[in-house]
Amino acid sequence: MSATPTRSCGTAAGPGDSDAVEAVSRLSPRLAAAVGALPLRPGHRVLEIGCGSGAAARAVAGLVGPDGHVLGVDRSERAVSRAIASSGELIRVGLLRFACTPVEDLVLPDDTPPFDVAVAIRVGAFDGRHPEVRDTALHRVRAALRPGGRFYIDSPSPGIALQEIVFDT
Ligand SMILES: C[S@@+](CC[C@H](N)C(=O)[O-])C[C@H]1O[C@@H](n2cnc3c(N)ncnc32)[C@H](O)[C@@H]1O
Repeated sequence: MSATPTRSCGTAAGPGDSDAVEAVSRLSPRLAAAVGALPLRPGHRVLEIGCGSGAAARAVAGLVGPDGHVLGVDRSERAVSRAIASSGELIRVGLLRFACTPVEDLVLPDDTPPFDVAVAIRVGAFDGRHPEVRDTALHRVRAALRPGGRFYIDSPSPGIALQEIVFDT
């Protein structure tokens, strides 16, 4: 699949809710910069690929809640177990969930509403470390997004947190 890195994003953004701001402030500077650069709005549905132990997903859930939703996926069962163990309340209220799957195998149930934003930070399928799965992974992400939905990965440029991947029409 053809997809092009375009705009870079590095500026903090997001609603001013104090709990959400506090959740972002607990992140590492690297993850805080990435989350802050996402074009999030309350009510957004966000897919995080390669969520690891879920720190960014939890912060994003605070930024899009209470009407939004975050799905974090990771191919590592251990990572997903840790993410679930650390996210009890957000999962209980339906703001956040996790699934163990490689992104290249990601197929959402038919009744899953599409996502507004997807993000993958330091995930080999997108950053060049695993070129053999990149096209399939991009197809899966595109299929999970609504028309006009946006996909971001970490930027190779120092001081720039994210770059947008734009799918060719
Ligand atoms: C370097 S860690 C980054 C974790 C987190 N995004 C961060 O930036 O702190 C990469 C994570 O992506 C997951 N991962 C790598 N390849 C993946 C794939 N093809 N599908 C889903 N998860 C993947 C790994 O299991 C790991 O948890």
